[in-house]
Amino acid sequence: MKQNIWEKEYRNVDSLWGFKPNGILSQYVGMLPDNGEVLDIGIGEGRNALFFAAQGFVVEGIDISETAVERCLELSKEHNLNVDAKIQDITSFEIEPNKYSLIILSNVLNFFPDNEIKNIIDKVKNGLQKNGLVYINVFDDKEPGRKKAPERYEQLAEHTFYKESSNMFLHYFTRSELEGFFTDYKTISLSQSYSLDITHGQPHFHSTLEIMSQKS
Ligand SMILES: C[S@@+](CC[C@H](N)C(=O)[O-])C[C@H]1O[C@@H](n2cnc3c(N)ncnc32)[C@H](O)[C@@H]1O
Repeated sequence: MKQNIWEKEYRNVDSLWGFKPNGILSQYVGMLPDNGEVLDIGIGEGRNALFFAAQGFVVEGIDISETAVERCLELSKEHNLNVDAKIQDITSFEIEPNKYSLIILSNVLNFFPDNEIKNIIDKVKNGLQKNGLVYINVFDDKEPGRKKAPERYEQLAEHTFYKESSNMFLHYFTRSELEGFFTDYKTISLSQSYSLDITHGQPHFHSTLEIMSQKS
């Protein structure tokens, strides 16, 4: 398992990401079948997973941070919800084929090198059942941090960097790149936004791409 910079981040605060689910996810909850199973990869403190558990879905999640998983499990207990959250690394985790109605990758894919991003997306596509949905939220190439990245980090590809201090990769997505992974899927929603983030730390801007695609 990689040296876990996320673990340090979670230990510094009571809540890193807040408790509101991503808007697009809550908007399309009606597209899931009643007995649908949901997998949240990089579940964090569970803001999306808890939302789906509250709607009655069977929810699993994985994360490399022990503190994030513990916090998610505590919250689900507190709210009398059932979320099966485990400490696992997505690069070695095997996703059961054709199982899930929804797989969530919310603010997770930016932190992998190009080859691992492709492997993760292949595993996710394989794990979805027919008509299953995949939701991905990522920082794009207009993200404020992208401009300064070449001065700060080792550049591995046009939009991919390696941050030695935290042994972490940073990949900024272009719209065509993200769309390109799902040309064989139906696009339910694709949006690009530039907005102020007031959920954690000092208010700051993010440039984000969000996609919800459906397996046919
Ligand atoms: C920016 S946070 C997003 C958390 C959550 N998805 C949300 O939207 O609130 C990224 C999460 O991915 C997790 N993560 C990073 N690398 C991972 C890996 N290799 N396997 C599983 N989880 C990972 C981190 O621990 C962290 O909780």
